[in-house]
Amino acid sequence: MAIILDGKALAAKIKKKLADEIAAKKAEGVRPPCLAVMLVGDDPASAIYVRNKKKDCEEIGIRSLEFLFGADITDDFLVSEIEKLNSDDEVDGILVQLPLPKGLDEKRVIAAISPDKDVDAFVSSNVGQIMLGDPTFLPCTPAGVMEMLAEYNIDPTGKECVVVGRSNIVGKPMAMLLLAKNGTVTICHSRTKDLAEVTRRADILVAAVGKAKLITADMIKQGAVVVDVGMNRDENGKLCGDVDFYPVSEKASYISPVPGGVGVMTRAMLMENACTAWRSRT
Ligand code: GUN
Repeated sequence: MAIILDGKALAAKIKKKLADEIAAKKAEGVRPPCLAVMLVGDDPASAIYVRNKKKDCEEIGIRSLEFLFGADITDDFLVSEIEKLNSDDEVDGILVQLPLPKGLDEKRVIAAISPDKDVDAFVSSNVGQIMLGDPTFLPCTPAGVMEMLAEYNIDPTGKECVVVGRSNIVGKPMAMLLLAKNGTVTICHSRTKDLAEVTRRADILVAAVGKAKLITADMIKQGAVVVDVGMNRDENGKLCGDVDFYPVSEKASYISPVPGGVGVMTRAMLMENACTAWRSRT
């Protein structure tokens, strides 16, 4: 049976450290960090994510500003709202919850965020810094995965690291962070010819596809480290990852659960990024 990569415990530890830092600075008269979160439309999953982010902020002493807009707003309006926050000295971080409703230009909206307030690390200059191995902000989910690996002394150096999924938010930056830690990295995607043949080579497997239980026990090597970024519903409506947890946990050396694994770490890393922005501004 694999050792559980306990994201919940690690996230709590990281948040406690940030909370202590914020409290100490406040005692010196420094204003607390401030994160602005924008939610457009009524996607229920996005509403839950935004609510959780707000809860995290409250827990550690970050001031959170919430902007809720209807799906009928225009790009011009959203960009002008972002620009106001860009020039507001009291605001450290800006996050626009994705996906945006159809009809809004996600690329244009993200590009409007000032790079020094881009706590998601979605703006092209921040993505470029990740590519160059010199990031200001680390992308939250991949950074959360790297923190979990480090916590359990799992060093990617020289290991076969396979990332399943090539999204801009997770797959691509995940590959860059594993590469920066000297992993030998392969990215698989929907056009990969023989997925199982590649995943079976993995010493470290990161599944970030969004397909319930796609990764089955026959697709992993005995003793592999398996990190599950997926957040899906199974046939009974129960939350599950991209990994078929129980059979895979019999074969893996380490495995992250869903929930309680990467998801909570993503949220902790967002808090970390908000504090990074705040430190550079106060
Ligand atoms: N939607 C899904 N994941 C994310 C994320 O990490 N950041 C933002 N802004 N939107 C998302």
